[in-house]
Amino acid sequence: MDFKRHIAARVRAEGLTEEEIAAMLAAPPTSEMGDFALPCFRLAKTMRKAPALIAEQLAANYPADEIVSEVSAVNGYVNFKIDRAFWARQTVQKVLAERERYGASDEGKGKTVCIDYSSVNIAKPFHIGHLSTTVLGSALYKLHRFLGYTPVGINHLGDYGTQFGKLIVAYTRWGSAKLLEEGGLRALNELYVRFHAEAEKDESLNDEARAQFKKIEQGDPDAVALFEKFKELTLREVGKVYDLLDVHFDSWAGESFYNDKMQPVVDELREKGLLIESEGAQVVDLEQYGMPPCIILRSDGASLYATRDIAAACYRKQTYDFYKCLYVVAYQQNLHFRQVFKVLELMGKPWAKDLVHVAYGMVSLEDGAMSTRKGKVVYLEDVIAKCVEKALSIIAEKNPSLENKEEIAKTVGVGAVIFGALYNNKIKDITFSYDKVLNFEGETSCYVQYTCARAASVLAKGGNAASFEVGQVCPQEFELVKKLDEFPATLHDALEKYEPCFIARYAVDLAQLFNKFYFDCSILGAEEGRREFRLALTEATLIALGNALGLLGIGVPEKM
Ligand code: ARG
Repeated sequence: MDFKRHIAARVRAEGLTEEEIAAMLAAPPTSEMGDFALPCFRLAKTMRKAPALIAEQLAANYPADEIVSEVSAVNGYVNFKIDRAFWARQTVQKVLAERERYGASDEGKGKTVCIDYSSVNIAKPFHIGHLSTTVLGSALYKLHRFLGYTPVGINHLGDYGTQFGKLIVAYTRWGSAKLLEEGGLRALNELYVRFHAEAEKDESLNDEARAQFKKIEQGDPDAVALFEKFKELTLREVGKVYDLLDVHFDSWAGESFYNDKMQPVVDELREKGLLIESEGAQVVDLEQYGMPPCIILRSDGASLYATRDIAAACYRKQTYDFYKCLYVVAYQQNLHFRQVFKVLELMGKPWAKDLVHVAYGMVSLEDGAMSTRKGKVVYLEDVIAKCVEKALSIIAEKNPSLENKEEIAKTVGVGAVIFGALYNNKIKDITFSYDKVLNFEGETSCYVQYTCARAASVLAKGGNAASFEVGQVCPQEFELVKKLDEFPATLHDALEKYEPCFIARYAVDLAQLFNKFYFDCSILGAEEGRREFRLALTEATLIALGNALGLLGIGVPEKM
C-alpha cells in the first residue's frame, strides 16, 4: 500500500503540495522510530518558525486514523509509525487474494517492447558467453509481460556472413550428413576450425569459400540447402537449451531476413546526404560525435552488421510500433550500438531515443577453461548438465528418501545456472563457480528453493489458514510483512533499470527474513489466533518467492 500518499494527503504543511510532501518522506534510521519521516527544514522559510517547532505543530495536527498508529516530533522531523497489525493484514490479504498475480500491474498497458536477446549465431557453439543475454533477456521479457507490457522476444540470428561459405567448403570436403547427425553442432564447429587450419596451408580455400557464399546469396539451390541444413541443426540444438531454461521467442528474424530490406535504408541515407565515400566504402561520418565512421557498404558493395541493425530497427518500428526496443548484448558492442542509434537519429527517426542497449558484463568460468583462442569452448549445455548432476548428488546426500530426485535436481540445477548469471548487477563481469551457485546456505536460488520447500512443508502440516486475525505483530513478522509489501515496487524498479538482479536479491532477502521468522517464532506451535496469522504469512511468503523465481525462469520444487 502507498503509505506515503496516505500521509501526505493528511499532513497540513503550508506551501507544499501533496506530491512534494510524499517525495520528502524518507525512512528514519530505525523502524523503532517510525516508518516514514518528514524533515521540516525546508518549511522553516515559508512557515517562519524553527524546524523543531514546525515538526511539533505538524505532529499535533495530524488527524488520528487506523493506519498511522504513532506520530512524534524529533529534532525537526515528524516520524510516522504505521500500525503494524493494519500493515500486516493489508499485505498478507493482498498476496493471498492475488496469488500468482501478486506483484503484477498494468502500468505497461498498450505499450509494445521489443527485446532482442540471445541472438545466437548459426553453426557457432552456444557457449557460456551466451548465458547472460539469454537469461537476462528472458527475465526482462517475463517482467514486461507481468507489468502489463506487450513484449516481443526477438532472436536476431547471426545467419549471414562469409563463414557459411567456409562451412560449405569444409562440409563438402571433410564432412557428411552422418557426421552432423551424430556430432551435431560440435561436429559443425570442428569443421569450421579445420577449415581455418587447412586454409593456412592452402590459400585457395578462401576463394572457394567466397564463391560458395556468393552462391548462397544468389539463391543457388544446393548452397542454400546446405545452409538451411546448418541452420536447422543449430536451432534444433539451441532449442533444447531454450526449453531447459524456459526461454521463448516471438520472432526468429535474423540478419539474413534483412537482405532485401537494406536497399531502402541505403537510399534514404544517400537522399538525406548522410553517406560519404571513404576508401571506396560508403560510410556515415560520426566524427563530431566522437565516434569512428559507421560503415554502411564495404568497397565491394557488401552490407555490414550495422547496416542490418539499422534496417532491423526500421522494420521493428514499422511492424510493432514499439514503445521501446531493447538490445540485450554484451558491453563489447557498446560502440556498435552508439553508432547505430546515432545514424538512426541523424536519419531523423524520432524513435531513435527509444532504442536501448542493455549492456552486460562477461561470464568466465572459475577454472578459466574457456578460451576461444585455443579453440576450447565451454558449451552452455555442458554447464547446465554439470549443475544438474551436482545438484542431484547434493540432494541425494541431504535427503536420500526424496522421491523424484531427478526431476527436482533438474529444477535446482537449471535454477542455479540462471540465478548465478542474474544475481549481480548486469554490467559486472562474473566468474561462474559451480560450488558458489549450488551453495544451499549462500545467496543462491537453491537457498530460496529450499526455503520454499520449508514453507510448503509447514503449510502441509498446518494447513492453509482460511481466515486470520492480526493482533500483536512481533519484529520478525513485521520485517517479513514489510519485505512482502515491497515486491511490486521492486518489480517496477527492476524494469525501469533493466535489472533482473533486483528480483534475485529480493528473493534472497525475503527468504532470509522468512528463515529468521521460522527459527525465532513457532508457527505450528503458536497459540490459537496467532497460528492462523503465521500460517497465512508463510503462505504469502511462498507465493511471493514463487512469483519472484518464476519471473527469472526458475521453478519451485514442492519438496527438496
Ligand atoms: N549475434 C550477435 C553476436 O553474437 C548478437 C546480435 C545482437 N543483436 C543485434 N541486433 N545486433 O554478437
